[in-house]
Amino acid sequence: MRTHYCAEVNEEQIGQTVTVTGWVASRRDHGGVIFIDLRDKDQVVQLVCDPADNVEAHRQAEEVRDQFVLVATGRVRARGEGLENPNLKTGKIEIVVDELIIENRSLPMPFDLGDERVNEEIRLKYRYLELRTQKAYDTFKLRSKATIAARNALDTLGFLEVETPILTKSTPEGARDYLVPSRVHGGEFYALPQSPQLFKQLLMVSGFDRYFQIAKCFRDEDLRADRQPEFTQIDVEMSFCNQEDVIAVGEKLIHDIFGKCGFDIPSSFKRMTYHDAMEQYGTDKPDMRYNLGMVDVIDIFARCDNEIFSGIAKSPKKNRIKALKVPNGDNIFSKRQMKGFEEYVRKFGAQGLGYFQMKEEGLKGPLTKFFTEEDIQAIIERCALEVGDVVFFGAGEKKTVLDYMGRFRIYLAELMEIIPSDTFEFLWVVDFPMFEVEDGRVKALHHPFTQPKSLDYEEIEEIESIAYDIVLNGTELGGGSIRIHKEQIQAEIFKLLGISQEEAEEKFGFLLEALKFGAPPHGGFALGLDRLIMLMTGTDSIREVIAFPKTQRAQCLLTQAPSPVDNEQLKELSLRIRQQAPTS
Ligand code: AMO
Repeated sequence: MRTHYCAEVNEEQIGQTVTVTGWVASRRDHGGVIFIDLRDKDQVVQLVCDPADNVEAHRQAEEVRDQFVLVATGRVRARGEGLENPNLKTGKIEIVVDELIIENRSLPMPFDLGDERVNEEIRLKYRYLELRTQKAYDTFKLRSKATIAARNALDTLGFLEVETPILTKSTPEGARDYLVPSRVHGGEFYALPQSPQLFKQLLMVSGFDRYFQIAKCFRDEDLRADRQPEFTQIDVEMSFCNQEDVIAVGEKLIHDIFGKCGFDIPSSFKRMTYHDAMEQYGTDKPDMRYNLGMVDVIDIFARCDNEIFSGIAKSPKKNRIKALKVPNGDNIFSKRQMKGFEEYVRKFGAQGLGYFQMKEEGLKGPLTKFFTEEDIQAIIERCALEVGDVVFFGAGEKKTVLDYMGRFRIYLAELMEIIPSDTFEFLWVVDFPMFEVEDGRVKALHHPFTQPKSLDYEEIEEIESIAYDIVLNGTELGGGSIRIHKEQIQAEIFKLLGISQEEAEEKFGFLLEALKFGAPPHGGFALGLDRLIMLMTGTDSIREVIAFPKTQRAQCLLTQAPSPVDNEQLKELSLRIRQQAPTS
């Protein structure tokens, strides 16, 4: 229907007749002459309907309202002196309309498109209207570019794109499964995949050597700003490789995606062990855009004259005393703020929050009296304190201290506004522990198919695995590992996880069997595509980068899913609802 997209109309067409199509972004009646901003997928062009030029076109324009669908034909002319709009690609020209066809009318918009303050429920109910905005189009254009760049990069590296099933069996990524009842096998269920993990390993047994997939994954878990029940991974697996090979592919892939999307990033990224990340930043996904880190001072506190601290310091394996220096903090924070900090960390289990201030005359603070002059000096040196600095202390049980001090670090960085918004800081976190113990139960930190470095250990938590995460600006962008390719080791790991032979057989028997048929050494990773786009576009909400997202309560407000089904359908599936879920 069109000769040009709106964006394509420029000074080169002055004097020519063009036809453009789109939606009315705005309409202004200037005493007879009507101006219409017509918008198509990504740009606006100005239409002029002047009764002096064409009475019929002007008559039509009088009927036009916001978001009507138009086909407009007219002559391109330069805008008058001083009427140019430098903010628009088409700001130097306008189209004098000869023929205006109203293709369709529109109800008034239920909300102001593009106004992000509008309640999210309304925006999600009419998501297709919100997607009509320039910002949304730009986001999805970038997402498309990134996906195509990923495909091309992996294709060039010799990876084969293979689809794996959606109706499948449970895959243990640590969340609950979404289940799909089978009609043919009454009372039995498929699970939607939490990831293609097991199938991609099977493809390595098949000898495909290098696999990838832009894969939909489903996880029924508590939702947060960076989580959706249904999301997309760039999923990769390769054979006859070690960690270095996988990391090299990951870096090339990420570098290519960012490059094609217009961002210049380094071709290789920093690395840090899980142990160092936890000890210095209190998290396994530290944000490296700012320079605040913790140091250990438990040995110095062990010598102090305060029973609480020296008591904690007696068990350096179980406990931690951590110092977090804030350069120039003494000049930044008020006394009241310092009090507020203590309240903040208490929410996460802290017993208190000590601090020292580095003054001209030396180290000051309520705790200094418990230390010898030598140890005061040791603190100053260990924390590299300069006049004006403040140093905070957290003391207590290891996990609690690392957690609240890690959160406090982020809290301070946000408060001080020291986090640059225009940089990408990538970090590989490597050498993850194989297991974590929670309430006496052993759990796999990544997943149970991860290769342990060795199975010689005194305490199970000491076992390290060949697992790595890629972290971007403090968000986990992806993760992966070298897998177990020998059946005996896999069986041993299931045993350590408390999974009985029968249960392992029932759940993963097919994998255990496949490992017996010449499984090659293999490993891989998966990147969260939605998170990647979220970080690229600098948005805080994953919902903005998903065309039709779900709410924090896992609902689709547009289609009203999930929704009840009729009894006939339930009967076919051999299901009966015992109790109606409470409606909210
Ligand atoms: P993992 O569980 O770490 O690893 O997932 C990989 C990446 O997927 C993204 N992600 C999510 N994104 C949005 N919403 C969610 N609910 C969600 N859950 C995960 C994250 C995460 O880093 N099979 C392994 C990969 C492997 O070992 O190869 C896996 O799925 O960005």
